[in-house]
Amino acid sequence: MRIILMCGKGGVGKSTLAAALGARSAAVGQRTLVYSVDPAHSLAWTFDQAVGGTPTPLGPNLWAAELEALSLLDDQWGDLRGYLDSVIKSQGFQQGAGAELASLPGVHEFAALLRLKQHADSKQFDVIIVDHAPTAFALRLLSLPDVMGFYAKHGKRLWERYGAQMMMALPMLGANIPLPTGGMIGKGLETLELLRGLPALLADPAVTSARLVLTPETPALDEARNLYAHLSLYGITTDQVLVNRLLPAAVVDPFFAEPREREQGVRARAQAEFAPVAVSEVEMLAQEPRGIAKLTAFGEQVWPSSDATARQTQDLALRVTQDGEQVMVDIKLPFVTAKDVDLAKFENELYITIGQHRRNLVLPPETTDMQPVKAKFAEGRLLVTLARTS
Ligand SMILES: Nc1ncnc2c1ncn2[C@@H]1O[C@H](COP(=O)(O)OP(=O)(O)OP(=O)(O)O)[C@@H](O)[C@H]1O
Ligand SMILES: [Mg+2]
Repeated sequence: MRIILMCGKGGVGKSTLAAALGARSAAVGQRTLVYSVDPAHSLAWTFDQAVGGTPTPLGPNLWAAELEALSLLDDQWGDLRGYLDSVIKSQGFQQGAGAELASLPGVHEFAALLRLKQHADSKQFDVIIVDHAPTAFALRLLSLPDVMGFYAKHGKRLWERYGAQMMMALPMLGANIPLPTGGMIGKGLETLELLRGLPALLADPAVTSARLVLTPETPALDEARNLYAHLSLYGITTDQVLVNRLLPAAVVDPFFAEPREREQGVRARAQAEFAPVAVSEVEMLAQEPRGIAKLTAFGEQVWPSSDATARQTQDLALRVTQDGEQVMVDIKLPFVTAKDVDLAKFENELYITIGQHRRNLVLPPETTDMQPVKAKFAEGRLLVTLARTS
């Protein structure tokens, strides 16, 4: 199975290219799902057909789905929602948790991942193309498995150790709050368990890769560079960059001479800076590529060869190797300098921070008593050496 994440700045053509790749992949006989995690749905508009929360068949080998976070959460978290309702009402508020549950930070991203895991586990598809929301959401989404993994691991331990005391202490503190039942907390942890395996699936370059979409403008290029670095941080390999909506060669009006020159600057930078990742150029069409027929033709134009969904670049985002007593972590982090990066180690996890983003990289258990002893940048890669210090 392949999972392809279509990422990029707002409005650059992610949904259109995700749908075109889906149509192309289906046309060569792969069972393909185009799955939108964008809270502002647009796949129905792009395919020009109704698309539901569960995979909607659109044609031979082709399905589409848009995330319906609220109904998914109801299925999964009905009990929890009931509990939150009672907590809120116990504090004198008339309205219950309702739709607010879905607007809590991280909940939509969590639902998006849960559904992705379900689509992957269903074995119904050879290819899942994820149409992302713009950058900030995509990064929060991709950092979530780490955070969830942390809660699943440490939350369970803490609950087992201190849960009963906490339950007894609450009424003593005078808290007039209904207590959650052990079963309810078990359900929460069980939900986290459902995500088990997803981080490994996302970090497996044979399964998952990202395709970065940009328009030939500097802000879109800068955002793609930013995404590229952060995707690598989360262990996700970028296998293709698509520069979309280029002025067609047939346009010769002198008015476009200057925009074309600007475009050429961005195209040259994209080719040079993303190397060795394959950079493909896509012209602006006179008509919006909307509806299955146009999307299929567009997909064939962008990916003429039948292996459109195969990895277009072999370069890996992350490698962990062992050399005698040392463990080497090698992460592709282009466009980042040593001063932007912070390293910390706790048990067998290496915490790598760049700006607002942190990755906790789970390393083999043998590294538990190792510390980072050396870190250097070379050719856009961060190389960290871990060794026993005493
Ligand atoms: N190569 C192209 N030629 C002509 N029109 C295009 C092309 N690519 C995309 N478009 C049009 O550009 C608009 C934006 O595309 P799209 O909705 O796919 O962007 P997006 O990145 O998904 O946006 P959002 O971030 O809002 O989800 C749409 O109207 C789409 O039809
Ligand atoms: Mg979109």
